[in-house]
Amino acid sequence: MSAQKKEIKRITVHTLRRMKEVGEKISMLTAYDFSMARILDEAGIEVLLVGDSASNVMAGHETTLPITLNQMVYHASSVIRGISRALVVVDLPFGTYQGNSKKALASAIRIMKEAGAHAVKLEGGIAVKDSIKRILSAGVPVMGHLGLTPQSIYKFGTYVVRAREEDEAEQLKKDAKLLESLGCFAIVLEKIPSDLAKEVADSVKIPIIGIGAGPHVDGQVLVTHDMLGITKEFRPRFLRVYTDLYAEITKAAQAYFDDVKSGDFPNEKEQY
Ligand code: KIV
Repeated sequence: MSAQKKEIKRITVHTLRRMKEVGEKISMLTAYDFSMARILDEAGIEVLLVGDSASNVMAGHETTLPITLNQMVYHASSVIRGISRALVVVDLPFGTYQGNSKKALASAIRIMKEAGAHAVKLEGGIAVKDSIKRILSAGVPVMGHLGLTPQSIYKFGTYVVRAREEDEAEQLKKDAKLLESLGCFAIVLEKIPSDLAKEVADSVKIPIIGIGAGPHVDGQVLVTHDMLGITKEFRPRFLRVYTDLYAEITKAAQAYFDDVKSGDFPNEKEQY
């Protein structure tokens, strides 16, 4: 019997579109490093987002604003080395695409060329139309992000649910249609009412990925460190915490501490 190499079918933007067409939900999680990317990819997660939430969970900043393009390239290239199947989408960080479409294209090209990413994500609707158009014109797939857009936190003032008021909901619906017509391959909707998210998902052909946007969308995304229970202070209502890694890691570190102090580690088998 000849040893056959198992063929891995890579996830592409077309795969996601087909998943929406047949009603198969899309799973997306954040990843910022090689080891986590490998675990999530092997677990079957279809889309890995190198989110600018790395600014919070990896670097300890209060907001996503401080992270730089160089830092995003570093995180993205680490994630790319860990995957063999997932689609890797990378956030364009604050200040690298707003108000200047040429700069936006240059930023997207750095992400694609230096990190080997598959797509970029950026926040906003009509306000970033020119940037999206120019990036798409270079053949770079773009994922949109509407609703609560953390890069605008100082404009919003708080992280409360967005688009509860009719005028903001209307603008969000228009923006979603605009992003689809420009050629975005998917949109993240963050922290908006479930009914509104459903209306948007039903009104466009591209996949809508929700975070705090209810179940009637085409897929879900969470920040991996949140769903693993590592970021113990962050417990919004939309979050499901699947394990308590904060406690598990603390337990393991304390056991190691005790073993080092007592001289129990390393034992006879753990030496040369
Ligand atoms: O940066 C990020 O992690 C994100 C998700 C919250 C969608 O944009």
